[in-house]
Amino acid sequence: EKPRHPVAMASALRLMPSTATRLRFRPRLSFSTAASLFSPPSKAVLYDQHGPPDQVLRVEDVPPVELGERGVCVKMLAAPINPSDINRVQGVYPVRPPLPAAVAGYEGVAQVHAVGPAVTRPLSPGDWVIPSPPSFGTWQTYIVKPEDVWHKVRDDVPVEYAATVTVNPLTALRMLQDFVKLKPGDAVVQNGSTSIVGQCVIQLAKVQGIRTINIIRDRPGSEEAKEKLKQLGADEVFTKSQLDVKNVKSLLGALPEPALGFNCVGGNAASLILKLLR
Ligand SMILES: NC(=O)c1ccc[n+]([C@@H]2O[C@H](COP(=O)([O-])OP(=O)(O)OC[C@H]3O[C@@H](n4cnc5c(N)ncnc54)[C@H](OP(=O)(O)O)[C@@H]3O)[C@@H](O)[C@H]2O)c1
Repeated sequence: EKPRHPVAMASALRLMPSTATRLRFRPRLSFSTAASLFSPPSKAVLYDQHGPPDQVLRVEDVPPVELGERGVCVKMLAAPINPSDINRVQGVYPVRPPLPAAVAGYEGVAQVHAVGPAVTRPLSPGDWVIPSPPSFGTWQTYIVKPEDVWHKVRDDVPVEYAATVTVNPLTALRMLQDFVKLKPGDAVVQNGSTSIVGQCVIQLAKVQGIRTINIIRDRPGSEEAKEKLKQLGADEVFTKSQLDVKNVKSLLGALPEPALGFNCVGGNAASLILKLLR
């Protein structure tokens, strides 16, 4: 499906591609009794110890889980692989799930499969929901969590966008709002501009009339990447090597010196941000 929104999102790990449709369905539970409801058997991406993801992650069957009175069982439609997901598995991210048997993944979009008898939120089978705030364990096929974890979202947006709406776009928004009071006409500079956060910065800045100066790394395809970022609304895009000049600010032309800089990379790429700042 051709995305209808300008936000270009990371490719999502599609756990259940065949269910990522606009069709509503009311699936049957795998089993239930008068007193209890259970999720269907699930598959999860788990780890027992921290380390390189390709060495410590495994896919495992998870037995059915009881919903309880206020539990909601959802079927995951798509969940992204964010850098922080990798860092959590590696054990280098400050907030991470307890071991052993930690289920990876932190955001994603799901479809309500069944609700417990005392659930009061207006959630029905077929609704699309996201965990908000994001919560651990989205790399699994069925999840049971309390009703207050799940927030209903529109189901007429591309599944990849719904799956990635919490972590990166909101980070971009908060970075633009929380540090410097920017007004239309001001400029910001960032490196790692092809990242999803970077692409969100470009688009959110554009709608506020804030100019963006973007730095990307030198690599095959950097010309296409420049073009793509400009189509998203970037005012200027430089590869790192283009900024290897004596007076880097001379390259800004008519753009104002940036009032705020975002560093996603470190090292020399971070010094370039500093050199360009107002
Ligand atoms: N709340 C938070 O604190 C928060 C939330 C979200 C994200 N983040 C952080 O924001 C950053 C971007 O996240 P994302 O999900 O948007 O990332 P992403 O889409 O995975 O993009 C990764 C970016 O890093 C660049 N990159 C990779 N290796 C590089 C290298 N060796 N040298 C220079 N650039 C390199 C990539 O450039 P190419 O296109 O050239 O490959 C791309 O721009 C990450 O550091 C992430 O942890 C923080």
